[in-house]
Amino acid sequence: MNVLLIGSGGREHALAWRLGNSPSVAKLTCPNGNPGIAQVAETPRVALHSHEDWVSYARQNAIDLVVVGPEAPLDGGIADAFRAAAIPIFGPVKAGARIESSKAWAKELMASAGIPTARARTFTDPAEAKEFARQLGLPVVIKADGLAAGKGVTVALTRQEAGRAIDENLVESRFGDSSAKVLVEEFMEGEEASVFGLCDGVDVYTLPAAQDHKRVRDNDEGPNTGGMGAYAPAPVYTNGIADIVRREVLQPLVDEFRRRGIDYRGVIFAGLMLTQHGPKVIEFNCRFGDPETQVLMPLIEGDLALLLLACAEGRLKSLPESIANHADSTIRTRPLSATTVVLASAGYPGDYTKGLPITGLDAANADKNAVIFHAGTTRDNNQVLTAGGRVLAVTAWDTTLPKSQARAYELVRRISFDGCHYRSDIAAKALNK
Ligand code: AMP
Ligand code: GLY
Repeated sequence: MNVLLIGSGGREHALAWRLGNSPSVAKLTCPNGNPGIAQVAETPRVALHSHEDWVSYARQNAIDLVVVGPEAPLDGGIADAFRAAAIPIFGPVKAGARIESSKAWAKELMASAGIPTARARTFTDPAEAKEFARQLGLPVVIKADGLAAGKGVTVALTRQEAGRAIDENLVESRFGDSSAKVLVEEFMEGEEASVFGLCDGVDVYTLPAAQDHKRVRDNDEGPNTGGMGAYAPAPVYTNGIADIVRREVLQPLVDEFRRRGIDYRGVIFAGLMLTQHGPKVIEFNCRFGDPETQVLMPLIEGDLALLLLACAEGRLKSLPESIANHADSTIRTRPLSATTVVLASAGYPGDYTKGLPITGLDAANADKNAVIFHAGTTRDNNQVLTAGGRVLAVTAWDTTLPKSQARAYELVRRISFDGCHYRSDIAAKALNK
C-alpha cells in the first residue's frame, strides 16, 4: 500500500523507519520530512496548507493510509477531512483530539467514565483558584487548560509559586487562549509511565510502557523539556498494572467516547502516575509520544502499516496473531529492550542556535540494532546541520535494558556538534533498583 505520513520530527522518523520496514508498504511519502526521514521515505518539498491541499495530494498519489504524527493537525480537524473523503487515516477526529487540547474537558470525561486521576477543579477566577489551591495543600499543580507547548504545567512547592502560576494564566494570559481557564490539581507522587493504546473506535490494544525523562539534566534536575530520552519496556509497569490500566483507564475512555458519539481511531497516549493507590492519569494525548515512539517502534514485531490500517478501518479484532495478541489485547512485540538518548542544542530548552554541522552520523550504519533518529536536522548539500532544540534521538535495542543503554551511549559518544548536550542517566532509574 501507499502510505502518507504527516509530520517531520524524531517521532515521525521512528514511525517512517518502522513503516518502511513493513512488507505491506510499497511506497512511503512524508512531505517535507527531515534528512533522517529522507533515508527511508520520499520527502518531496511541497506546500500543503489546508486540509483540502492534503486530501487532494493524497488522491493524486493514490494513498491507501494516512498516518498523523503531531497533535496540531489532529486538533485542526485533518482526520475529519480525510474521513469525509473516505481515505483511511490513523489519528482521531477533532472531537477526540480535544482529549489533549482541553485539559478541563479531559478531566470531565475522566469523571464521567470513572477513570482514576488527580482531584482537580477548573477556574476562570483567580481568587477562587487560589482558595482551592490552599485547600489542596502543597505541593499543588497548576495547569493551563489548552495547548501550551509543554510549558503549561507548574508543580508549585509554595503558595506564592501557586499564586504566581494562577496569575500568569488568568491575569496575564501567558498562553493566550490556552490560559483562559486553569486547572488546580492535587499533586500525585510516584513513577511516571507513558502507555499507548491503539484504538479502532471500539477496541484498544496496548504497547509496552515507556518512561520519558522530561527534565534537561541528570537526576531529573533543571527545567522541563519535550523529553531528553526514554526506554522501554519499563520494568515498574508490571502485567498487573497493565491489566488495571486496560480495564480502568483505556477501555472506559473509549466507551465514554462512543457514548458521546466520538469514533476515536488513533493513539490514546496515557501519561500515568504509578501511585501507592494504583495507576492514575496525569494527562491524555491524542498522538504518539516523542521520544517514546523512538524506543517502541524497534520493539513492534508485526507489520506496522497493517496494524495502523486496521485501527483506521475499525477492525483491530481481525488482525492476524502475528501482529496482535487477541487474548490480552496487546500488540505483539519482540522480547527486547530499547534506549534512546536525545542530543540537544546548547541552550535548549531555552533559546538555541541552529545551522551547526553534525559529525559521526554514519556511526550506526553497520549496526542492525541501532538507529540515529533525526529530530531537528536539515541538509545543506552533503552536510547535515542542526535545526532544532532536540536534534537527534540515538536509539539502540538489545536483549536486555543495560545492553541497549550501553550501546546507545557508545553511539552517542561518536556523534558531535558544537554545544551538544545530553543526559548521561537515561534508563538508569530502571537499573538502580
Ligand atoms: P503534563 O504536561 O500534564 O504532562 O505535565 C507535565 C509534567 O508535570 C508531568 O510529566 C508530571 O511530571 C508533572 N505533573 C503533572 N500533573 C501532576 C500531578 N497532578 N502530580 C504530580 N506531577 C504532575
Ligand atoms: N514525551 C512526552 C510527549 O510526547 O508528550
